[in-house]
Amino acid sequence: MSDEIEEIKRKIDIVDFISSYLTLKKAGTSYKALCPFHQEKEPSFYVSPEKQIFKCFGCGKSGSIFDFLMEMEGLEFPEALKILAERAGVQLRQFKSKEYQETKDQKIKLYEINQLAARFFHAILVGKPKAQFVRDYLNKRKISQESIKKFMLGYAPDSYNLLSNFLKTKGYSMLDIYQAGLVVASEKNPGEYYDRFRNRLMFPICDNLGNVVGFSGRALQETETGKYINSPDSPIYSKSKILYGLDKAKQAIKEKKQVIIVEGQMDVISAHQNGYQNVVASSGTSLTTLHLEILGRFTKNIAFAFDQDRAGEAATKRAIDLANQLGFNTNIILIPAGKDPDECLRENLALWEKAIKEQKGAVDYYFEVAFSKKPKELAASEKREIAKELLPIIKNLSDTIVQAHYIQKLAGLLNIPEKILYEALEKIKDKRISKSPEIIAKKPTESIEERLLGLILARSEFQNDFLKKINPEDFADPKLQEIVKELKKYYNQKALFNLQSFKKKLPQHSTTIDILVLPFENIADSELLQKEYNEYTNRLLANKTELIKKSYEERIKEAERAKDKEKVKALIKEFQRKIIGK
Ligand code: GTP
Ligand code: MN
Repeated sequence: MSDEIEEIKRKIDIVDFISSYLTLKKAGTSYKALCPFHQEKEPSFYVSPEKQIFKCFGCGKSGSIFDFLMEMEGLEFPEALKILAERAGVQLRQFKSKEYQETKDQKIKLYEINQLAARFFHAILVGKPKAQFVRDYLNKRKISQESIKKFMLGYAPDSYNLLSNFLKTKGYSMLDIYQAGLVVASEKNPGEYYDRFRNRLMFPICDNLGNVVGFSGRALQETETGKYINSPDSPIYSKSKILYGLDKAKQAIKEKKQVIIVEGQMDVISAHQNGYQNVVASSGTSLTTLHLEILGRFTKNIAFAFDQDRAGEAATKRAIDLANQLGFNTNIILIPAGKDPDECLRENLALWEKAIKEQKGAVDYYFEVAFSKKPKELAASEKREIAKELLPIIKNLSDTIVQAHYIQKLAGLLNIPEKILYEALEKIKDKRISKSPEIIAKKPTESIEERLLGLILARSEFQNDFLKKINPEDFADPKLQEIVKELKKYYNQKALFNLQSFKKKLPQHSTTIDILVLPFENIADSELLQKEYNEYTNRLLANKTELIKKSYEERIKEAERAKDKEKVKALIKEFQRKIIGK
């Protein structure tokens, strides 16, 4: 297995691989980008072609192409291995073994079931006489053969068990099929199950990698209750994370540097078919922070395409507010009233193109709406109303410069001093959500240690001072402690420091050392480095003092509780000696 992993790593260049997700900028011998795993404004995510590793100094994530893919797509190692092996053209021996088949992850089973179901529905749609009316329907809606194939549209036959019987013949149990969300438990007859999707046009829902994780089924008869029914959430499908079409749109999103969000699956398919491949749908659910975090890996520019009336709707405004809070640039594409993007694309492509060209900043749009309802000459009360409407929107923006831009604009339009508006802005309750706890939790405290050690390994001129001030035990991470110990030894031998020969002394940590040194390799500004060095040593020492203080505090308290006056005295003395004596 490890041979295969090594072979894959040799065959896939990490720079190429990561470039398919992020825009990498050359920085000396390595590359830099905004980290996809946490929010940042200055790039601290590095990729080294030489060492074939990545490392983010903001959130601490690092590793090989495997780690990157697992983190980026939320995969377990076996799934990542499978994907990369395929891409590298490497045969995986172990994965064909019987044990693997038997113990294989439940998730992989659910992927397979959904994939099989999608093919089953698709085959019926394109091949069976009883699906003729569905083909006619799609034809009437101008959905091309190519789109039917690309989106693997299907038809779920009007039957309570055709699909589940088919899946059972493929060796899956009813429980597996139930977990995949394709059957419903019967209320009348406990223990029995029937097919969830019957007589519906089927849209497979895929994750970012194109794995089918669920379905959306559209009714074909007006009388049917529920125009759309969807798969329930499952271990592989979570509505708050999946955007319809993203797997097919992500490349175009990166190229066009914008994602267009529409409401429905039909809108996505129509847009792709007409050359707008950067379009995804929220599929009727409201946009979540998770959706936005995923989109943020591909672009920071979102355009919402809504019909004119719906642009003002509360749900739309909520989505835009959320995106603004998270620092996205938000635009609005206004489709003529009463039409959804699909109808507009179908009936009048020029109109759609015009709407795309004339898209405007969401905040500017809200300005227009607020002012359009009022006469040209504004009375005092009207000014108050407009400010009341627009200030919360401005408050919600994540960037103070952008905020300042709109305050200035509003002040000009209302003919009121900016200062007054800023005061009013202060009084508005801040509804901005803090970053998700996940992101905060990812920020490791030891990044100071890593930065410091990387710096002194890259720049030997700091080593003398460093070793005088700092001991291996001052580092919390045992791995880093070992490196400092070795450095001390190396230094005592009075050898001239050379990173390559130093690495040879610690072969087990050689990758760690590469990663640590990475961000400092190309910095020429020695003044900046000196500043960084001072800051890190000070912070490390401050942390140390803090830790000593805490530990003594506890021990002193304990002694006090035990009424051991002698011990209290001794501890206080010892503590003072440690802190001041140093
Ligand atoms: P067409 O009418 O075929 O053009 O579909 P549409 O996408 O235009 O439908 P609509 O604008 O009514 O709804 C937009 C999206 O909301 C759909 O694509 C679905 O994802 C979702 N949706 C609509 N109706 C329902 C429903 O009854 N149940 C659920 N769960 N979702 C729905
Ligand atoms: Mn529609």
